Amino acid sequence: VSALAARLEQWSSNANEALTITLLRHGFEESLDSFHPDFTYPIFGEEESIFGYRNLQINLAFAAHNLKPHVRITHDKKWEGVGEVQASDVEGALRPFLPASAFDQELASALRNDASAASFKPPGTILHRYTTQGRLFEIWYSSLADPATKELLRNVQVLVPLFIEGGTAIEVDDLEWTIERWKVYFVYEVDTRPKRAPETSPYALIGYSTSYRVWVLTLPPPLGPSQQAYFTLDPPETDSPDLSSLQSALDLPSRERISQFLVLPPYQSAGHGTHLYNAMFDLFLSNSNTIEITVEDPNEAFDDMRDWCDLARLRAIPDFASLNINTTIPPGDMKMDATIPVDRIVDITLRDKLRTRTKIQPRQFSRLVEMHLLSTIP
Ligand code: ACO
Repeated sequence: VSALAARLEQWSSNANEALTITLLRHGFEESLDSFHPDFTYPIFGEEESIFGYRNLQINLAFAAHNLKPHVRITHDKKWEGVGEVQASDVEGALRPFLPASAFDQELASALRNDASAASFKPPGTILHRYTTQGRLFEIWYSSLADPATKELLRNVQVLVPLFIEGGTAIEVDDLEWTIERWKVYFVYEVDTRPKRAPETSPYALIGYSTSYRVWVLTLPPPLGPSQQAYFTLDPPETDSPDLSSLQSALDLPSRERISQFLVLPPYQSAGHGTHLYNAMFDLFLSNSNTIEITVEDPNEAFDDMRDWCDLARLRAIPDFASLNINTTIPPGDMKMDATIPVDRIVDITLRDKLRTRTKIQPRQFSRLVEMHLLSTIP
C-alpha cells in the first residue's frame, strides 16, 4: 500500500505552488511581478492538491492596469486513468472563477499588446496620492453603478478566493437595484518615468477595497428612540421598483461597512493598507450621512492594521490623548473582585463624544480606549 501511495504522491501537485499569479506591468521597469496564492481550497478542494500531472504549472496572468485575466495550463506527463482514479480536471475547476475569455489562448498576446492600455484611466475620482520610497501611488474611488468600475471589480475579484479566507466575490450583476450603495477603491502605482514606452499604461493596480452603506433606522417607542435598527436595502419584490424612494434612502443616516480589502502580496507590509484604510476613513468622516464605520468579517491581519490606524487617529485628538485612568478612586474600592463602574475609571461623556465624532464602532472604540489606557500605565 505504501508503494502505491508513494507512486500516487508523485502525481500530486500542491495547488498553491502550481498556481503562479503574474501581473503584467507594461510600462514599468520591472515588468513582471509573480507570486503564489495563499489559498486554493475554494477551487481545488480542502487538500489544496491536484492529482494526475508531472510538473503542473498554472499561470494566471493579469494586465496590471485593468486586471484582465488569462490562464495557461502546462504540464509534462499526465496520469493515464486507471479505473476510477483519473487526473483532476484543472480547467474545469478554474472555469467558475474566471471569465470565459481567460481561457482563450488566442487572446494571450492581447494582454501584453493591448492598444488601448495607453489611454486607460482608473475609473472615478482620485481620493489620495502619496509617495513611498520614491514611488508614486494613487487611490481612486467610484460607485459600482459605473460600468468601468464594475468591469474592473469583476476582474480583480478573481483574487478574492486566493487571498481572503472565507471571502466571496460580490455578485456584480445581481446588484442592479442596490448598486448605488457600493463604492470601490483602487490603489495604483503610477509610472512617472518620462521614457515610458508610449503604447503602455502608467497604471498598475496593487490593491483594492469595497464598502457599502447600511441604513440606520431609529425605531419609535417602545423599542426606541434609543434603539436603532440597521438594514441593507434589498431589491424590492416588484417588477417596477420605485427608484425615487431608493434615491431618497441614499440620503438617510447610514453606516459604511468595509467589505473586501486586499493589498497584493508583493506590496504588503509597506504601508499601502494603512494609506487605503485611512483614505477611506477620511472619506466616510467627511460624509455627513455616515454615522458609523464598520467592517464585515475582519481577519487578524486586518484587525492589526485597523487598530494601529484607529489608535493613531485618536491619539492625534488631544482630548483622547489625555484620557487617563482615574487614579482618584479610593484604594479600598480597587479590590480585585470589586466591580468598578466604568464611568469612575474614565470620563464617559467625553468618551461618547469622541466616539460619535470619530464614527468608530462602539466595540472597536472600547478596545481602543482600553489599549490606550493600558499604554498610559507607568
Ligand atoms: N507600528 C508598527 N506596526 C504597524 C504600524 C505602526 N505604526 N502600522 C501598521 N503596522 C503593522 C501591522 O501590524 C502590520 O504588520 P506586518 O505587515 O508587518 O505584519 C502592518 O503594519 C500592516 O500595515 P500595512 O503595511 O499598511 O498593511 P498592508 O499593506 O500589508 O495591508 C492587509 C494589510 C490588508 C491585511 C494585507 O496584508 C492583505 O491584503 N492581506 C491579504 C488579504 C487579507 O487578509 N485582507 C483582509 C481581509 S478582511 C476584510 O477584507 C475586511
